[in-house]
Amino acid sequence: MKFYITTPIYYVNDIPHIGHSYTTIAADVLARWKRLNNYDVFFLTGTDEHGAKIAAAAEAKGRTPQELCDEMSLKFKEAWDILNISYDTFIRTTESKHIKSVEKIVQTLFDKGLIFKKKYEGLYCVGCERFYAQKDLDEDGCCAFHKTKPVLQSEENYFFKLSLFQEAILERITNSSNKDYIEILPEERKNEIVGKLKLGLEDVSFSRTAIEWGIPLPFDKTQTVYVWVDALINYITGVGYPDDEERFKKYWQAEVHLMAKDILWFHSVIWPAILMGTGLATPKTVYSHGFFTLNGNKMSKSLGNVISPKELADKYGVDAARYLVVTLIPFGPDGDISWEALDLKYNIDLANNLGNLISRTIKMAEKYFELKVPDTFVELELAKKTAEILKENFNENMNKLLFHKAGEALQSAIDIVNKAIESDAPWRLAKTNTQKLAKCLFSYLQAIDVIAIHFFSFMPEICKKIWKISGASGNIEDVAKKYFADNILPEKGFSIVNSTLFQPGVLFPRL
Ligand code: MSP
Repeated sequence: MKFYITTPIYYVNDIPHIGHSYTTIAADVLARWKRLNNYDVFFLTGTDEHGAKIAAAAEAKGRTPQELCDEMSLKFKEAWDILNISYDTFIRTTESKHIKSVEKIVQTLFDKGLIFKKKYEGLYCVGCERFYAQKDLDEDGCCAFHKTKPVLQSEENYFFKLSLFQEAILERITNSSNKDYIEILPEERKNEIVGKLKLGLEDVSFSRTAIEWGIPLPFDKTQTVYVWVDALINYITGVGYPDDEERFKKYWQAEVHLMAKDILWFHSVIWPAILMGTGLATPKTVYSHGFFTLNGNKMSKSLGNVISPKELADKYGVDAARYLVVTLIPFGPDGDISWEALDLKYNIDLANNLGNLISRTIKMAEKYFELKVPDTFVELELAKKTAEILKENFNENMNKLLFHKAGEALQSAIDIVNKAIESDAPWRLAKTNTQKLAKCLFSYLQAIDVIAIHFFSFMPEICKKIWKISGASGNIEDVAKKYFADNILPEKGFSIVNSTLFQPGVLFPRL
């Protein structure tokens, strides 16, 4: 089965920060999880490079827009390399294949009579790249996301007949038995979208006359395509539209479009309408997580409180950073993060809980078994117990993108093994019952492997190391795929008896 997941494509006027990283890591964790579950995954991310905002940022730096885009898209790629993001394609909206795709969609809508010319006057927020009605602004007349006043713009533009799709979209997002059902999650945000949709849908402007940095309309080169239309179409270009028919047929529709709540409207209303107007399938799930603040403040370059992916990786290590960022606050609602909260979670979950489990197990092998996997009766009770608790509390939460809960399940699995060690008291068994001691060590190693298999999507490189500790055979990804397909532990556990334990060094140095 295939699974197509996307992140938003990020604007290149900003440097990649922890906000972008949050969505991208979450998408990566899900992509890796689905791969382990034997899905044929396609994971798309990239950069959004046209529009007034980018043109203004380039001008402010004395660069051409294309120069700025080239430089900044590279920064996003570097950030995703640092964070070990396993995307299949990184798309840029200035690529010729994307331009071709946009032209084709816009032309199709035009040919179907869904695009018309009209004079329009409205309040435009450049930060959001969208028009607002007065009622959508706060009491000072500012947009909620940028706290700036949108400016009055008056143009003759091409409009898309969005209003025609009101009923059809409402039906698709509210009727779960519709074969084209679009699931919007979380539920509360879906309700907001439904409420707004019921108030009516106005046609939207699909082009700009004053903005040169964009894709010219194929049927009127004096105007450029509205940047949001250009951007949304990346999701089909990324899987081969329009030329690579085979790939497009295989991967489209998206199983999950992932983003924060700021851009949910575009993804759950405007994007489906464009697709329906063109005659293409709509996405299956649109998932918006919350916005987070840093110590109670919005992150911004001017406040100087932006956390970069590199800072995170330098402080905690890449894998730990991935785990911490995506599990620190519940996935869905808004939340506040801070270095202190990240440090605390690092020390509790990783240095103390997981790190301690691993170091005490290795020490035990070293002290009593010359660092060898003991050759003993296969003892899988503990591994089974660990697998059971993960099956109950981990898998479902991962599939629902509740990463914080999946993280809690991992921690309770680790707790179980740590508690087993305490109650077995190996240091006592060493004096009284060395046979039992051997069985205990063997069982801890198998349980650790079960944990590594489940932790893998969050911490791939560390889990590869953990996998090697127990002398487990094969590579962790292949074994995990088999494990998740068969849903059963290997009869003799994962380790090869008598192999020497790999010593990975301190995996999580205490802060
Ligand atoms: N270019 C558009 C998206 C087009 S998609 C067809 C855009 N870009 S953006 O650079 O502004 O990125 C917005 C996204 O970045 C959010 O939807 C979210 O995924 C992520 N985040 C940026 N800051 C964030 C937080 N402070 N908190 C959570 N997510 C954040 O919008």
